[in-house]
Amino acid sequence: MFRFLRLTASHRGGQNALSRSGAAAPGRTKNPVPRKDPKSLRSYRWYGPDDLRSFGHRSRAAGMGCAQADYAGKPVIAIINTWADVNPCHAHLRERAEHVKRGVWQAGGFPLEIPAFTLGETFQKPTTMMYRNLLAMETEELLRSYPVDGCVLLGGCDKTTPALLMGAISMNLPAIYVPAGPMLRGNWHGEVLGSGSDVTKYWTERRAENIDLQTWTEIENGIARSAGTCMTMGTASTMTSLTEVLGFSLPGASSIPAVDSNHPRMVNQSGRRIVEMVWEDLKPRGILRESSFNNAIAAVFALGGSTNAVIHLIAMAGRAGIKIMLNRFDEFSSKTPMLANIRPSGKYLMEDFYYAGGLPALLHVLAPHLDLTCLTVTGKTLGENIATAKIYNSDVIRGLDNPVLASGGLAILRGNLAPDGAVIKASAAEARLLKHRARAVVFDSFDEMSARIDDPALDVTADSVLILRNAGPKGAPGMPEWGNLPLPQKLLKTGVRDMVRISDARMSGTSYGACVLHVSPESFVGGPLALVKEGDLIELDVPARKLNMLVSDDELARRRAAWRPREGMYARGYGKLFMQHIKQAHEGCDFDFLEGTAPIPEPEIH
Ligand code: FES
Repeated sequence: MFRFLRLTASHRGGQNALSRSGAAAPGRTKNPVPRKDPKSLRSYRWYGPDDLRSFGHRSRAAGMGCAQADYAGKPVIAIINTWADVNPCHAHLRERAEHVKRGVWQAGGFPLEIPAFTLGETFQKPTTMMYRNLLAMETEELLRSYPVDGCVLLGGCDKTTPALLMGAISMNLPAIYVPAGPMLRGNWHGEVLGSGSDVTKYWTERRAENIDLQTWTEIENGIARSAGTCMTMGTASTMTSLTEVLGFSLPGASSIPAVDSNHPRMVNQSGRRIVEMVWEDLKPRGILRESSFNNAIAAVFALGGSTNAVIHLIAMAGRAGIKIMLNRFDEFSSKTPMLANIRPSGKYLMEDFYYAGGLPALLHVLAPHLDLTCLTVTGKTLGENIATAKIYNSDVIRGLDNPVLASGGLAILRGNLAPDGAVIKASAAEARLLKHRARAVVFDSFDEMSARIDDPALDVTADSVLILRNAGPKGAPGMPEWGNLPLPQKLLKTGVRDMVRISDARMSGTSYGACVLHVSPESFVGGPLALVKEGDLIELDVPARKLNMLVSDDELARRRAAWRPREGMYARGYGKLFMQHIKQAHEGCDFDFLEGTAPIPEPEIH
């Protein structure tokens, strides 16, 4: 105990010296920020006292080769690492964890790398969305149950970002997010390939029999050229960008390609900064406020971002005790210009975006639409972080006078088919389909759709509305990215490339098409989508924000009386827990018992 206190004093001195020398990462520069006493560090409860349990903690640390000088009186920084061999988007995160550690040591902290559940979008079935809340729970409980004063979160693949942040917001310890970064541009015979978007595009051509197997294999080997996340403005890049807008990453971090040497330097700087954040007691709920989320919503539209952001932002805000209604997205969509000319809604890829100035440059242009006073992990405001950002390619990042789209990239629809709302990414659809009335072709499940969609006898025309149900949060379950229903092969061969599709599923952020998504309430729980019959007339009117089936109320009442719920898939295990607690799409799909800001007790140490 005595030896511990002496070490504490000397290490605190060392920390201050580091700050004075300017070697620490950027932080508050104006008024001196009150610094914590080392004894008030959360980890002191584990390492500090002169008792039986602390003896165990210190002796086992010694057993791993750590002297008291390594940790005593220092912020203990958890590096929550979602690296795994099965997750190609995070393939470099083992190495990056070492870069975080270097930064933590440099700033006078004690790093502990802790592996966490990996959500590998390409390999995990039925869908990573089934496990977002599980990773959020795991993150919260890892931080709660171990001697942690602050954390660096390593992730990037789609659901990983909201999951890690949801857990960190709930636990409310100082946290900084290190985005994995987008992979390099794809390349095939000199042609640039974009993740997801070009897969969909060329698969459509293959199904239309315009591409042979050899070409398909060449594309397969050219589209993913490095570690990192999808390099279109899909869900991964949308969510890492929004994380930066919310204030949880260093300025510019989300745009750096995964294998660019600027990436490990940013990671190292994040490791240094988190130590300072612990001393400053700068916590997630000290950073987040309602206008932080408004900034993030505006950024979704300026980026031409993924529809998945709607669900994730609602859920993340819920963890901070902030309620976001679906209509707020529509409100921002109608007044926010799309400035990033990035696929799937634009022309370029994330690598181009980085060279053009990246997110800080885009936010600099978007400034009149943002609340620049919001705080960030740097200890400075968003406005201070982006004050000197510049655009280096004005075709990739457009000005307010020359946007890719003036407004309206996304619309929230309502009507008797979606009383609680549905979402369409209008910017990714053929314009002629945005006001459309036609007969429904209905599939009750993904399997049924797969079996029937290419049947030459399917009664379908280019005008038909394809409907998929039982693909929502409970119905699939997990709300997979099935919403971009494949088009019937017989229509593809005639040149049809887009049709109105409606489902309670999600859609990959890299996909495109006139796809109405997130229909709520979902069909599995008896939402009106469950009542549609083959041949019913469906009316989509995006300008009027309407989605209706033209069926009388009496007939709908008869159908409702006859409707019977389907059996759930899980009798036990995580699947059963999921079915019991998952909320609907318009509510963010969090578990009901994880929402809100009720205090979490610190663990007892006995
Ligand atoms: Fe991981 Fe797209 S598959 S980001």
